[in-house]
Amino acid sequence: MPERERMIFRAEINGEEVEILVRPNQTLLEVLRDELDLTGTKEGCGEGVCGACTVLVDGLPRRACLTLALEADGSRVLTVEGLAPGRELSPEQRAFVEHGAIQCGFCTPGMLIAAHDLLRREPRPEEAAIRRQIAGHVCRCTGYAKIVEAIAAAARDKEADHA
Ligand code: FES
Ligand code: FES
Repeated sequence: MPERERMIFRAEINGEEVEILVRPNQTLLEVLRDELDLTGTKEGCGEGVCGACTVLVDGLPRRACLTLALEADGSRVLTVEGLAPGRELSPEQRAFVEHGAIQCGFCTPGMLIAAHDLLRREPRPEEAAIRRQIAGHVCRCTGYAKIVEAIAAAARDKEADHA
């Protein structure tokens, strides 16, 4: 597509201001992965079903494969890379590692974003709330029990950090 048919996309992505030209039909997922090299966010189904591409847009979980980049223009976007900008893992990431909640890891970025979203809203979630939160996230490997355990452990760790 000629450059003149591209449009300016501006957003705060993981705390950094970004301004680039995008195609009007380019998804947020394509822009994150192909233009900004933020390849932590995965493309599974590409149809809004698996949850692998989940990011937060202005604090709300969105399927980046179904969201046009221009729909997120002017927004704050959080991807898995923004959970732990330094060298320390976030509590969610640490818990996933410690509880064996990662096997192939393909679903993990979306699961971590879902966990982060839940724990911000609900610092002490019941197991049922954790299961509801990840209900739209498909994992082909773990059977979910370890992911649920990890999210519960992350909640305890976060609480201890703030005690
Ligand atoms: S890649 Fe977006 S929901 Fe599956
Ligand atoms: S760890 Fe492989 S898909 Fe979830």
